[in-house]
Amino acid sequence: MNPESQNPERQARELLAFYLDAGADALVGEEPVDRMADPPPPERGRPDSAAVQLGGSGQAALTRHAPSLDRRSLPSGGAERGPVGRSEPPPVAEGRLRAPASPETAVMAAREAARNAKTLDELRALLADFEGCALRATATQLVFADGNPHSRVMFVGEAPGYDEDITGRPFVGRSGKLLDLMLAAIGLDRTTAYIANVVPWRPPGNRTPTPQETAICLPFIRRQIELANPDILVCLGGPAMQTLLGTKEGITRSRGRWFPYNTGSREIRALATFHPAFLLRSPLQKRFVWRDFLALKKALAN
Ligand code: URA
Repeated sequence: MNPESQNPERQARELLAFYLDAGADALVGEEPVDRMADPPPPERGRPDSAAVQLGGSGQAALTRHAPSLDRRSLPSGGAERGPVGRSEPPPVAEGRLRAPASPETAVMAAREAARNAKTLDELRALLADFEGCALRATATQLVFADGNPHSRVMFVGEAPGYDEDITGRPFVGRSGKLLDLMLAAIGLDRTTAYIANVVPWRPPGNRTPTPQETAICLPFIRRQIELANPDILVCLGGPAMQTLLGTKEGITRSRGRWFPYNTGSREIRALATFHPAFLLRSPLQKRFVWRDFLALKKALAN
């Protein structure tokens, strides 16, 4: 027997790496939780301290913030997030956290919070404090935006992945590097483009955000677009396109088409194209994105 394989520290690191690969990437508590059991009644005269609190403004809040595993100390990084080839991980990362009272309550709270933001900085601060989306508890940090908020063009992806979660900046992993090359091909970079995601927290294990999580985050990204006020919105991939443009069509049919997009203050033009993570897996599709980016360049020249 190899004595090194008996090393407890090594065994612990390998176990953590195994959990991480399986998508369980957040520390949720010391004790197992029986989710089938009835919740204990709250103490008399005292509100249930772990439950959702609705503040005076109606803003849903989770009262406990579960710590994330420090993935930087683990032996292997997470996979690049992208629109295809993701596996659904087990339902992890709740611990003693409670979900918001209902997704509808959380959506209403998100709408109210987003409406209250008068600037992008205010919106970022409100989002950082918003506890109505459970993804916040499992993510390392908020991934709000990168690039120039005064740019005429705004790119929006689906949700951050591993590298974005660690750095707090959208599109910095492998697909982000490809996005940078795509931008450079039409003379753009992060000083002339603004970049964000529909969902600003990394879903555990890079899983697809649930429809509820997306619905809760939607008022924030819509307000972010309104406040950034670009002339052109570019949706990266089908999920961002379907969420923001409200189409059910697939990205293959819809990419390259111009859509009207109402920011809430004015109508702008929106374009959808393939997600860079998809292009990493299907490089032949780059020719279509090249066409889309040339159309974008032309539109920006006008
Ligand atoms: N994929 C996305 O959709 N967004 C990121 O920020 C990174 C990868």
